[in-house]
Amino acid sequence: MGSAVGLGNIWRFPYLAGSNGGGAFLIPYLVGIAVCGLPLLMFEYAAGRHYRLGVMGAFKAMSRRYEVVGLAIAAMVFFILSYYLVVAGWTLGYLIATPIGKEAGFSAFTATWWPVACFVVTAVVCCGVVMLGVTKGIERTSRALLPLLAVVIVLMAGYGMTLEGRGEALSFLFKPDLSALGDPLVWARGFSQAFFSLGVGMGVMITYGSYMARESAIARSSVIVASGDVSVALLAGLAIFPLVFTFGGPPGAGPQLAFETLPQVFSHMPGGMLVGSAFYLLLFVAALTSAVSMLQVVAATISDRTGWSTSRATRWLVLPLLGLGLLSALSYAPADLRFFGQPVLDLMDTTFGTFGLLVGALVTCIAIFWLADGLAMKEQVGHGAPRRFVAWSGFLLGRYVAPITLLASLATLAASLIVLGELRGR
Ligand code: TRP
Repeated sequence: MGSAVGLGNIWRFPYLAGSNGGGAFLIPYLVGIAVCGLPLLMFEYAAGRHYRLGVMGAFKAMSRRYEVVGLAIAAMVFFILSYYLVVAGWTLGYLIATPIGKEAGFSAFTATWWPVACFVVTAVVCCGVVMLGVTKGIERTSRALLPLLAVVIVLMAGYGMTLEGRGEALSFLFKPDLSALGDPLVWARGFSQAFFSLGVGMGVMITYGSYMARESAIARSSVIVASGDVSVALLAGLAIFPLVFTFGGPPGAGPQLAFETLPQVFSHMPGGMLVGSAFYLLLFVAALTSAVSMLQVVAATISDRTGWSTSRATRWLVLPLLGLGLLSALSYAPADLRFFGQPVLDLMDTTFGTFGLLVGALVTCIAIFWLADGLAMKEQVGHGAPRRFVAWSGFLLGRYVAPITLLASLATLAASLIVLGELRGR
């Protein structure tokens, strides 16, 4: 849950839903969770627990030639992590600004170098956590703080429901404009958001599964993680969109959406400063627990290959991580760094968070559902009779339906990119 719930739910989901047809985006997102995401989640845990190895080691154990694929996945996680930490840094910046009563508008914030400084601090903290090996501490922290985050978001959604714009927000979110579904990019983004939000397709859950106790029920845990994750995302939508429609501002504002609207909640809501400070603190912790899970994958891969300790591997990652992340950080700072006319962070999120993640999910499907020992996997997922049913149906989904849908959505994505000749909009 610590890895799954994070900025993907509160920052990425509303921004993608807002710029991809609102309610229409929910359909590919939920289909993606049910048809590909949940089976992947269950069987990533299964593969981790069966092989007791990280992504690269597990892939190698499935097929020698697949080791390099595991390596490529670890590299992709590193790219996602680099800009994820930038957004986590924004949360930190808002966390500092809110209690001192500084009006934290997004454009005012990015007109300073604060975003860059906050990114550096966040990245160093993340590396520090992995280096000190306090992942147990992270587990305890997220167990205590994630439920609190859920409570605060319920409060915020409740406040949203008292606003004038709630009707418009509800119909934006739940009355899908089906014509948006004709756009293949909406499907590709909905699917990749399902994976991003669950944290599958990048070997994270394989790594976590390798630490899982024999007696944990994988199917049950996966269903709990997935439903918790979807609920938090929907609640975030219910908190953010009423504001968008009450105080104006386009729902398709892009990555800054949550960071433009949330300060407005707190400046209007009774007790807003207190609720706001709590919210940013909890969101920062949620983001950190997800970032740590990603860094853990990269560090474990390096340590598997070199025999170094995780801590030493992480030490070597600090500078590359800062260097790479700085490109994204500078794109929302006075430097306004852009490639191809787009802020680097947007480009990173499209390339790695959307396209890369679809590729990652596809190769993970092939590894887990075709190359791995299928019987052993199914045994991991289901012991009891109903769970055996879950294991079989999940396996069949993962073996056929998921790869075919993933291939189709990658193909349409590639085709539309070629036809359009550019990354159209967001
Ligand atoms: N799921 C996390 C979130 O919603 C982010 C995350 C964790 C992730 N592990 C991942 C994203 C692996 C992509 C791949 O914020």
